[in-house]
Amino acid sequence: MKGIILAGGRGTRLYPTTISVSKQLLPIYDKPMIYYPISILLLAQIKDILIISSPEDIEMYKKLLKDGADLGIHFTYKVQDKPNGLAEAFILGEEFIGQDDVCLILGDNVFYGQGLTDIFKRIKHHQGGATIFGYQVNNPEDFGVVEFDENYNVLSLEEKPKIPKSKYAVPGLYFYDNKVIEFAKKIKPSSRGELEITAINNEYLKRGELKVEVLGRGFAWLDTGSPSNMLKAGMFVETIQSRQGLYIACIEEIAWRQGYITSEELRKTGEKLKHTEYGRYILDLLKDGDSK
Ligand code: TTP
Repeated sequence: MKGIILAGGRGTRLYPTTISVSKQLLPIYDKPMIYYPISILLLAQIKDILIISSPEDIEMYKKLLKDGADLGIHFTYKVQDKPNGLAEAFILGEEFIGQDDVCLILGDNVFYGQGLTDIFKRIKHHQGGATIFGYQVNNPEDFGVVEFDENYNVLSLEEKPKIPKSKYAVPGLYFYDNKVIEFAKKIKPSSRGELEITAINNEYLKRGELKVEVLGRGFAWLDTGSPSNMLKAGMFVETIQSRQGLYIACIEEIAWRQGYITSEELRKTGEKLKHTEYGRYILDLLKDGDSK
């Protein structure tokens, strides 16, 4: 399975900060925002990742993440000329995806919670079709909303409905089979001029091939697109990390625990960053002696 991270967009809700800087390079507490979606793809055991961003910003991502060898994985980069919508990812990514299935994650979504790895394993066993997630929120009318039956078959999907049919919002993490490329080419831009991910999901829904996985109350799904949400996400990360001494989205740690890099390779990154708590955390992992 391939992975795509969408790290373009306008970021208008964070102006003036994002007039000159790409949103997904801004920090959520102690690491760039894009580390969080990378950590999710690593947990889903996806090692081949396409990063999509704007022509102005793509070089910054290359500078930060390089080819992925430090994590034992592979990053590819692709420019999106304009923010033409989330579904354009599959057109831009056609060659990269090849004949594989693909997972799309938005560069500004933070997920955290025990059991994610098990959920991903289960999804990978689904035969064909698509899987989206449902997450209960207080304000479903501000999101894409999913309604589903007791077998987690999707009944309806609505974009920012005035009267939501459920309390479950659809977060920015989606798993698709290879048909997604064909569907993305077929859909037309919406009234706001974007190739909408909801249009793709509705294609799967029409065929009865759309499943939903509910992320229960133990999970955190945080949006980071506005100043106050960004601050809240940062405070959440700081609270967990300082309380437990376990890091959220330390991508080098995950790569090491998955066996993608050796302890020696992990040490190199730790040494480079040793003047930060992040670097010292990495070096401390090695003192514990094993990667489990
Ligand atoms: P949005 O939240 O839809 O938009 P945005 O990030 O540009 O922010 P704003 O509303 O403040 O203007 O985007 C969700 C994520 O997807 C975000 O990480 C940016 C990314 N994105 C792209 O990479 N390409 C696109 O065409 C769009 C629409 C979004």
